[in-house]
Amino acid sequence: MTPQKFSPGRTGILDDKVGDLVIEDSGRFRVHSDIYVNQEIFGLEMTRIFESTWVYVAHESMIPNPGDYCTATIGRQPVIVSRDDDGQIHVLFNRCAHRGSVVCREERGHASTFRCPYHGWMYRNDGSLIGAAQRSGYPEDFGEWGLRLAKVPRVQSYRGLVFASVADDGESLMERLAGVRWYIDAWCDRSPQGEVTVPAGAHRYEYPGNWKMQMENGVDGYHGNYVHESFAHILERSGERNATDITRARNRVGSRNFAKGLHHGDGLLEREDGMLGTYDTRSVPEYREQIAEAYGRERMEEILTQRNIFIFPNLYLFESHIRVIRPVAVDKTYVEVYPTTLVGAGAEFNKARLREHQRFFGPASFGQPDDIEIFVCAQTGVNVDAMPWMELSRGMAREYVNELGETVSHSTDENPQRAMYREWRKWMTSEEGLR
Ligand code: FES
Ligand SMILES: [Fe+2]
Repeated sequence: MTPQKFSPGRTGILDDKVGDLVIEDSGRFRVHSDIYVNQEIFGLEMTRIFESTWVYVAHESMIPNPGDYCTATIGRQPVIVSRDDDGQIHVLFNRCAHRGSVVCREERGHASTFRCPYHGWMYRNDGSLIGAAQRSGYPEDFGEWGLRLAKVPRVQSYRGLVFASVADDGESLMERLAGVRWYIDAWCDRSPQGEVTVPAGAHRYEYPGNWKMQMENGVDGYHGNYVHESFAHILERSGERNATDITRARNRVGSRNFAKGLHHGDGLLEREDGMLGTYDTRSVPEYREQIAEAYGRERMEEILTQRNIFIFPNLYLFESHIRVIRPVAVDKTYVEVYPTTLVGAGAEFNKARLREHQRFFGPASFGQPDDIEIFVCAQTGVNVDAMPWMELSRGMAREYVNELGETVSHSTDENPQRAMYREWRKWMTSEEGLR
């Protein structure tokens, strides 16, 4: 096939061809490198995916009290997630009605009003305009112009996870999450009280690469033996685990060691054995007992199976943390990592769990920085015009569809990524995405 580049900046070309950037035929699945480097495609993704679907914006525990707020983005658009005096959650565009400045510059805080830093206009935390500074410069009917912080049309939560949608109609959040809810429940029920909290802030990684590098990687069970080889050796040197055992556990076929592609582009990686960076609960029988008491022994096994869960397009639920993907530009992305606490599991348990998290996922850790480095390697390589296709074909010959309609395959297979790109193609080419 002749390598072809779509011309950045030219309009009209892409609409015909954007669907051709994901090619699926028998036994082979490929995506075109342009999806990582083309500015126009990035712009379309922001509109057709991030402004059309449900996007995760915050965890309720980040704003527990009236007046609490945090900031987020929906695609490139800044928003404030605030809880008003009646306890209701609003998602407001963080954009002054005067001349466009953000009105809130903090990541998280408490305020009943927001004052724009530019010319001092004041807003309530439900978005209504209190008034303009030096009001006499405006006419009498200024108050009737309808100026305010616009609301993001739809906001809904599921088990503390707050999602918002810029599209004012479409499927409900519950419909959207139908295929992944069971896994969200299991993730929450790692707390004996069914409640996960985000007690502190995030640590943030920035990398010069496309957002989909992180999207693909969190459920990629193929890279661990290579990218995280050094961590396995550290564990071996410290006497904690044998590196060969780790590799063997990853390669094992037939036991609970799966990659799954779910509906709506979601996916997950699932392992019985400890995933690197995950606190191994098998060494804490009293915690396991708590979970068994709360939910029964059979469900305990399901709950404590380790999973990295991806919820299209920007959310990961890792065992220890919530991870948010924030696209900034076609080749710039923030990854925000919010460590979580399991309510009712006890301070000692949560502390040990956080320590393990820090060791693999923290800013000075042995895991996540290696992944970030790989995103940069891949982002550099995809500029080679002579080799425009990415192969995401691994496991196509051995995956199967279970009774829930999930594709199931070995944990090193690329079926979750295929689910992501089918969903990507759907939104990038469908009527809904084109709205
Ligand atoms: S831009 Fe906000 S007050 Fe001027
Ligand atoms: Fe990794």
